[in-house]
Amino acid sequence: MAKKVAVVSIKGGVGKTTTSINVAAYVAAMGVRVLLIDLDPQNGCMFGMGLDVREGYGVKDVVLGRVEPAAALTQTNRPELRVMMAGDFSSVDELEDFTRECDRNPYCLAQMLERLQESRAFLPDLVLFDGPAGVTPITVAALAAADSIILPVQCEPLSLRTLPQMLRSVAKIKAKYNQGLEVEGILLTMYDVKHEAKLGIAAQIWDNFPTELVFETVIPRQEQLVESFAVGAPAIDISSRSVGAQAYIQLGRELIMRLPEPALTN
Ligand SMILES: Nc1ncnc2c1ncn2[C@@H]1O[C@H](COP(=O)(O)OP(=O)(O)O)[C@@H](O)[C@H]1O
Ligand SMILES: [Mg+2]
Repeated sequence: MAKKVAVVSIKGGVGKTTTSINVAAYVAAMGVRVLLIDLDPQNGCMFGMGLDVREGYGVKDVVLGRVEPAAALTQTNRPELRVMMAGDFSSVDELEDFTRECDRNPYCLAQMLERLQESRAFLPDLVLFDGPAGVTPITVAALAAADSIILPVQCEPLSLRTLPQMLRSVAKIKAKYNQGLEVEGILLTMYDVKHEAKLGIAAQIWDNFPTELVFETVIPRQEQLVESFAVGAPAIDISSRSVGAQAYIQLGRELIMRLPEPALTN
């Protein structure tokens, strides 16, 4: 059974999608089968991976009972990587319906993964949920399905301030829906030496959280990560030697080390 990791934060724009896309691409390039599930109606994974929503169904279509999970998988240029896009949210009702269904049945995403497993259409070693901003019923459903969470913290004050609130929400969701849920790690993103000297955000994280709760890898602020997103490809494909891509390669390695044995022997 796959390890399921949700990338979540209360604040938007902290690097969840950039992290999800780049980690998924790198880990898949290492031969690990990855399913990237986009839970944000903005469809960031679709744009960042150069896919097209018109090519198929998304996760909300599965949750709303319109298609089987296997029919909502999109192929990528890597055989080990499939993406389940969020879906077409051009009608406002679609988001309301998706949110309502996650609220009615917080286990809908967990059940979706079980059905995918039963179908044997694609058997991932790692499932990555790219969450929407905030703690919505969609986030709750992702955390009810996940084994662990990655908490990106952008190295700026508001992102740091929302972390305790996020951790309280996670504790509540864990107690109510998923007692096995763990924190995989806090991930410092958009780290910039000049800002850090003034703001000390990373220093506050390192001082206040146990080492094992914070990823060793720190993602630097780097324009190439924005540029690769703009052309619809993971940075490791466009500028693999850039410091941004290299940081995500290092993070991917940290995650691979934590996967159960069979994933590594593929
Ligand atoms: N390390 C980084 N350096 C510079 N820009 C980044 C970095 N990570 C993300 N960005 C940019 O910041 C914006 C928000 O990132 P994104 O990954 O979409 O965040 P989220 O999914 O949390 O909303 C995007 O424009 C993205 O290209
Ligand atoms: Mg996003």
